[in-house]
Amino acid sequence: MPYTVTLPRLGEADAQRIADAIGETALGDAALDAAEAADGSWELTLYLESPPRPEDLLLLQRTSGAVLGAAPTWQTHDLPETNWVAKSLAGLGPVRVGRFLVHGSHSRDRLTPNLIGLEIEAGEAFGTGHHGSTAGCLEAIARIARTHLVGNALDLGTGTGVLAIAIARTWRTPVLATDIDPIAIEVARQNAALNGTLRHLDFAVAAGLSHPVIAGRGPYGLIVANILARPLAQLAPALARELAPGGFAVLSGILPEQASQVVAAYRSGGLRLLRQSERDGWSTLVLESPAPA
Ligand SMILES: C[S@@+](CC[C@H](N)C(=O)[O-])C[C@H]1O[C@@H](n2cnc3c(N)ncnc32)[C@H](O)[C@@H]1O
Repeated sequence: MPYTVTLPRLGEADAQRIADAIGETALGDAALDAAEAADGSWELTLYLESPPRPEDLLLLQRTSGAVLGAAPTWQTHDLPETNWVAKSLAGLGPVRVGRFLVHGSHSRDRLTPNLIGLEIEAGEAFGTGHHGSTAGCLEAIARIARTHLVGNALDLGTGTGVLAIAIARTWRTPVLATDIDPIAIEVARQNAALNGTLRHLDFAVAAGLSHPVIAGRGPYGLIVANILARPLAQLAPALARELAPGGFAVLSGILPEQASQVVAAYRSGGLRLLRQSERDGWSTLVLESPAPA
């Protein structure tokens, strides 16, 4: 992710309104960070994989201009790839995806009332929101929430629990969070407690979908699985069976060149592809189980 476009010296409310407005445009899938500067002003940073095109800059100018009353100039910078990696590993800044703000305890103060905060301590588990696959899943969950109510969800490969907590905080619905790794389950449980979502979540150490608790709790209105393309394709028939009619599957951990293979496996299981998005070189798929006629 080597390019950033920034708009500095904003008031907090304007930064928020502009961020919300950008979320509704063609640039809505890009990672957008709203951060407070040392002088108390706010800065918006949009992260892009390729240099911003003139039409992107025009869209940003128009969208922010509509909020501010006059079109400001966005500043373009190259961002060395290594900086981004170091930043994500150190878990420095909070990450905004749709209405979600994934943050550590040190940046609780970044939370504004219009956002859903997900406070995550990663420990030894995966899932701070900085990775393109996690952000892609959060974005998909946020989009589904615009039009659908989800009851009963499964987060397969929960890691830190970030997606399970996002689902619980969005719909206040039961979520079964599973992982092959018992340490991840412990971290996810602690994060669920930290976010006040423990009563919505159940946990199981399980590989794939074979654990009896998974079948016992189904069918699911939403299954999220951010694992890798190969296990996702292998799980396709079983995962499709666990989805309720009209239910959604959000799948990530897929490289763009692997996406068609995964889509084919799920189409064979009877699911329909609703959306495929790319973020930092990772594809996220949203599929739907056919609703009853
Ligand atoms: C890429 S991380 C995703 C974590 C989190 N859901 C996120 O989106 O950031 C994948 C997680 O899935 C777990 N995992 C990998 N293969 C699995 C499988 N077959 N069944 C269950 N969990 C699995 C890993 O232990 C890891 O915690």
